[in-house]
Amino acid sequence: MSQRPDRRRAETLSDLSLAVHAGNRMDSTKALRTPLVMANSYELPEDPSEISWSATAPGLYTRNTGVNQAALQDKLAALDGGEDAVVLASGVAALHAVFFTHVRMGDHVVVGDVTYEATWRLWTELLPQRYGIEATFVDVGDLDALRAAIRPNTKLVCIEAIANPTTKVSDVAAIAEISHAAGAILMVDSTFTPPPFYRPIADGADLVVHSLTKYINGHGDAMGGAVVGTRELIEPIKADAMVDVGGVISPFNAWQIHRGSVTLPLRLAQHLKSALAIAEFLERDPRVAYIYYPGLPSHPDHELATRQFGGRGYGGTMAFAVVGDPDTQNRFVANLRLITSGFSLGHDDSLIVHTGTEGGRVPSYPLPFRTLGHLRLSVGIEDTDDLLADLAAALDATFPSRVDVDVTTAETVSA
Ligand SMILES: Cc1ncc(COP(=O)(O)O)c(C=O)c1O
Repeated sequence: MSQRPDRRRAETLSDLSLAVHAGNRMDSTKALRTPLVMANSYELPEDPSEISWSATAPGLYTRNTGVNQAALQDKLAALDGGEDAVVLASGVAALHAVFFTHVRMGDHVVVGDVTYEATWRLWTELLPQRYGIEATFVDVGDLDALRAAIRPNTKLVCIEAIANPTTKVSDVAAIAEISHAAGAILMVDSTFTPPPFYRPIADGADLVVHSLTKYINGHGDAMGGAVVGTRELIEPIKADAMVDVGGVISPFNAWQIHRGSVTLPLRLAQHLKSALAIAEFLERDPRVAYIYYPGLPSHPDHELATRQFGGRGYGGTMAFAVVGDPDTQNRFVANLRLITSGFSLGHDDSLIVHTGTEGGRVPSYPLPFRTLGHLRLSVGIEDTDDLLADLAAALDATFPSRVDVDVTTAETVSA
């Protein structure tokens, strides 16, 4: 199969063109798009004795990489500005693949203290208990605390560019400098900040993880995960975690995500624009108890986000709560007509989820997350005014009269 355009040309393309063309492979049929190859085995040469059964390129067996995996890997490497990429069955499989491959017994890792649930559980329970790897959770916004947490055996520093769920922003360039000075690898989960909105490799990240399930596929109809980085760090992930652990993505999902990602820059522009308008609207409304969105000057990391994301935007996801107890949060969600209650994020349709006060388990979560819980709103690509109207109508339906809340006690006070 040939690949059009070649990588040399891809490097000169703008974001919109790259999203359309990068990683597209043509075969002898001359189909203009990479065909979907569901076969799990490829014809071997007459003498296969020279073939490595641990090969990590198409032509052998789909667990070793199929045509559609390879096309998606090429595309994601080009979009993120990395040398290579590996795609796996889910974002969590991608996170685990990094940990499994690059951290060993006796190593130590530093993890940002606001992090996605599975990363939290992997590093608080599963990996320390099973493999004796120590993890220190630290507020990576405090660079002195980060320096102090690093030990001589720290192998990996693990952060999220915008963290799920509080939208805390990490200073990737500063954290990369500290990690590299200590000889550690910096892994950035960039699920909330896909390219071209943000490219952590340009700020010094060694490995970038994406849940492809979210913005990169964007249509809520396929799961996948990716790690992007240098060839030196990606190849062992392919050889160990992909071939020999085997959490591979199906060719169909790889094909689907490849197609979904064509419109990523266009979709992102709408996500980012609407999210800012919605965050500003919610912040003005007294029936909203609090809101965290990096685009608001009230967000603790607003200046960092403006600098780091170069004014392109602040993400499509925010956390807030309306005034009142968990039942009120649920009533507000039930009163929404366009925005749907659903667990994922980064889809074309707007999704909201009430997570209760589970954030209470993390002392570093801002206070209102622990007293009121939060609603995570992932702003879709519907019309901005329709979304604003839906939120306004749901607020009116939930609050027949005006109320305020004391976020320190979560008690409602009549205005
Ligand atoms: C920041 C982050 N990383 C990783 C994941 C895991 O992705 P997946 O659900 O594709 O396994 C998620 C899922 O919500 C996420 O928000």
